[in-house]
Amino acid sequence: MRSSSLAIALTSIFVTVMAAFPNRIDTHVHIIPPAYKAAIEKYGDPSGWILPSWNVSGAIDAADSLGVRVQVVSVTAPGPGIAGTGEEGRQLARACNDEVAAIAHEKPGRFAFFGSLPDWNDVNGTLAEIDYVLGTLKAPGIIAMTTYGDTLLGDAKFKPIWAKLDSYAAIVFVHPGAVSISPKLIAGTLPQPIVDYPQATTRTAVDLILTRTFTADSKFKVILSHAGGTTPWLADRISVGSMAAGANLMPPADVLATLKLFYFDVALSTTATSLYGLLQITTPDKILYGSDFPYAMLSEGQRQTARLDENLKMGEFKKLSCLNNKNAETLFGGVDSMLTKMGINATKGKGKL
Ligand SMILES: *[C@@H]1O[C@H](CO)[C@@H](O)[C@H](O)[C@H]1NC(C)=O
Ligand SMILES: *[C@@H]1O[C@H](CO)[C@@H](O)[C@H](O)[C@H]1NC(C)=O
Ligand SMILES: *[C@@H]1O[C@H](CO)[C@@H](O)[C@H](O)[C@H]1NC(C)=O
Repeated sequence: MRSSSLAIALTSIFVTVMAAFPNRIDTHVHIIPPAYKAAIEKYGDPSGWILPSWNVSGAIDAADSLGVRVQVVSVTAPGPGIAGTGEEGRQLARACNDEVAAIAHEKPGRFAFFGSLPDWNDVNGTLAEIDYVLGTLKAPGIIAMTTYGDTLLGDAKFKPIWAKLDSYAAIVFVHPGAVSISPKLIAGTLPQPIVDYPQATTRTAVDLILTRTFTADSKFKVILSHAGGTTPWLADRISVGSMAAGANLMPPADVLATLKLFYFDVALSTTATSLYGLLQITTPDKILYGSDFPYAMLSEGQRQTARLDENLKMGEFKKLSCLNNKNAETLFGGVDSMLTKMGINATKGKGKL
């Protein structure tokens, strides 16, 4: 009785807030194209997460239910690197990109995408696929995993990749991937995304900063997943620590200034703690909406989004309402013109919510 009346209360809050923000742009949302599904069924997912089911109509229903106009979808970790650093990985990335682009054209105005790349240790394959994704398919950006093998994204061997991404002024959506750690799973079975993914994001973000891979001169933009993992908690510690114990890597003020260059999505990170943490390290214009569907079930996306909308009504969080739409519009140089560049007639998808 109590729980059902609570459910009704939450549902009515939910319906009300959905109506208030009918135009979200979801930048942290995934897609499982057939080629990728087959690869995961063959190789498994090293994070321990179970592959959810995905289909076009289910994705559009989810978007409508969350008040999302456009899903900027991506193929999540492990990505095409699951097929290794050779030809098979390259072909898997290409198949994912072609399949995802076809879906975006099939349902005009509902999908854009961050393209998939091979394992970055295949530098040449990665460079070629960046040209395909950004030059041929005209996607706004790519998804990068936090590590490739045991290598963080600021490593010198990835410099040519960053140079190419810079030449396109690409948006780089950094998504956590499996962490090489022992024991691999907590409590025997807890999948890594729960506790280890946020730290994976922090590790690679700090690497990008302290190797000066990402600076105020960078033309590419970087989105960090899930409110930056643990970076809001650790920002002060990292900034001071970057000069500590002989590290002498970067003055604290520069670390904090570079941190402000990142974008952050609020996928599965909508608590007051997360939002307040973001406000301590960045400005409201750098924060984006994310649902993490379908890896987060729709019901979880709804719970998170309802809480987000409640939080955005309160105090200093009011200034974060720009995360639903306006910030993405600015980041993408206009969502409709981004779609037009991809050869998609954005007006066709309008009026469906
Ligand atoms: C499509 O996916 C949704 C979940 O998003 C699921 O409920 C539905 O059964 C799926 N439909 C098909 C035909 O598989
Ligand atoms: C990568 O491409 C460059 C230029 O085409 C070539 O010189 C180099 O040998 C290639 N590297 C590998 C590992 O294939
Ligand atoms: C885009 O779609 C709308 C609605 O279907 C149509 O009126 C318009 O002519 C289309 N524009 C282009 C450039 O195809």
